[in-house]
Amino acid sequence: MSPDAASRLSTAASRTDSALSRLLPPAEGPEAPLAEAMRYAVLGPGKRLRPFLVFEAGAILEIEANRLERAACALECIHAYSLVHDDLPCMDDDDLRRGRPTVHRAFDEATAVLAGDALQALAFEILAAPETHPDGRVRAELVRALARASGAQGMCGGQMIDLSGVGGDLGAVARMQRLKTGALISAAFEMPLVMAHAAEPERHALLAFAQDLGLAYQIVDDLLDAEGEAGVVGKTTGKDAARGKVNFVTLLGIEDARSRLDLIADQARAHLSPMGPRAAGLRACLDFVLDRRS
Ligand code: IPE
Ligand code: IPE
Ligand code: MG
Ligand code: MG
Ligand code: MG
Repeated sequence: MSPDAASRLSTAASRTDSALSRLLPPAEGPEAPLAEAMRYAVLGPGKRLRPFLVFEAGAILEIEANRLERAACALECIHAYSLVHDDLPCMDDDDLRRGRPTVHRAFDEATAVLAGDALQALAFEILAAPETHPDGRVRAELVRALARASGAQGMCGGQMIDLSGVGGDLGAVARMQRLKTGALISAAFEMPLVMAHAAEPERHALLAFAQDLGLAYQIVDDLLDAEGEAGVVGKTTGKDAARGKVNFVTLLGIEDARSRLDLIADQARAHLSPMGPRAAGLRACLDFVLDRRS
């Protein structure tokens, strides 16, 4: 990643974190443990990739940074909620996340379930507030886009397929990925597109890029699970094979998964070529996804 892209990522991350810190409830009163768990889940040392994508896609579409910040916060709340629930004993039963105990380990299971629920609600509260966009129709479209990406035909649907065991063919694994990880990554592009009323060719190119980026992201996640070290990755590794999960790496093997990743990265870059230098930030996002070690 170039020094310029690294500094853009860190600006997007710190902007999102300070906004989230204001938007999350204060840890006060008898319900304080819930707010503490929400803060622990969201403000922990994650990469803030999705906010970075919102800011970079939004910059291409010339959307005001204050509006992008709200969309980035909403998306990161949904992402954090998905991780809290994904780690629960009834799902992946993980003890380590972002290099620290998972929320149900640091607090308890009931608090983790509630923190996930409340983060999901907060995401939509953020989007629906007038500060996000002056036009109520745009706000409704934002809510709809994020709800679709998180629900039964998005992230939750993908998690269901993951848990119930996907069939052993590549098409089925790719579909699971599109729902489980891809939908929220695509939402990082959908929301700025909704705000921009973007023209069809631009919309098409950005969403096609988002789809390849999401796919690349999950292949790297599967590779890190297979080859990474927990101390670097920040989560327990080797779990997918141990649990008999079908994913890109358990299905294709490491070498074929890597070749597929190269092809997808080339295809992703090709979607951006009509945008020329305007898309430099998104090219940096792709490099970040490909080079990540955690
Ligand atoms: C992990 O997401 C879960 C997947 C969708 C593969 P990230 O790798 O973006 O997690 P954080 O936010 O950086 O912790
Ligand atoms: C979970 O995928 C993705 C979501 C939370 C939607 P994984 O189960 O592979 O994520 P990690 O590896 O635990 O981060
Ligand atoms: Mg999982
Ligand atoms: Mg998991
Ligand atoms: Mg994983």
